[in-house]
Amino acid sequence: MIVAIDGPAGAGKSTVARAVAQALGFTYLDTGAMYRCVALARLRDPQIDLQSLEIRLSDNVTLGGEDVSEVIRSTEVTALASEVAAEADVRAAMALRQQAMLASGDWVAEGRDIGTVVAPRAELKIFLHADPQERARRRAEQTGRPLSEVLTEQQQRDRRDGEREHSPLVAAEDAVKLDTTALSADEVIARIVQLAAERGSGAQTR
Ligand code: DC
Repeated sequence: MIVAIDGPAGAGKSTVARAVAQALGFTYLDTGAMYRCVALARLRDPQIDLQSLEIRLSDNVTLGGEDVSEVIRSTEVTALASEVAAEADVRAAMALRQQAMLASGDWVAEGRDIGTVVAPRAELKIFLHADPQERARRRAEQTGRPLSEVLTEQQQRDRRDGEREHSPLVAAEDAVKLDTTALSADEVIARIVQLAAERGSGAQTR
């Protein structure tokens, strides 16, 4: 079974997706970390060959064997990740890798295009969204950075992710849309776990 969780930055995807995966006993896939690895590799070597990138996602994120879990969250990598994620060849390469992983087993996959492009036949699709101010407030709280800076960067990323030509951030038609502005993480998690239990009982093979 695949639970696809898409939505903009700061809507609560990572916290929620991790917890839902744990509650269901599914494997968690953070596709954003893959775009972040591509961005980091590009920063280090602008000519880097996409196919040669060895990205491994488990408790840590490794790139060519190096633990990059922390560095891929830096402001510089975050900004570049949304640029590389707009490139068609990068998206195609990452989507292929993600589809290969999702081909067997039970997954909670989070990103921007899981329900629309990567796993359009996912048994459950969730689109998490929240008020932009609230999303920025959460990220500022997590990172300790000034709210105004976070908000400005978030607006730029939202625009790039939403307006790009290839796989822009949109909710799949059959996604369940959850506005997390006024909900606690636990409430969102419980709702998704309940939906997964309902869908899982009637799950079809992919
Ligand atoms: O979810 P995140 O902030 O770690 O994602 C990093 C960047 O990658 C973000 O700008 C959106 C992009 N992304 C994407 O385009 N498609 C995905 N499936 C996941 C992330």
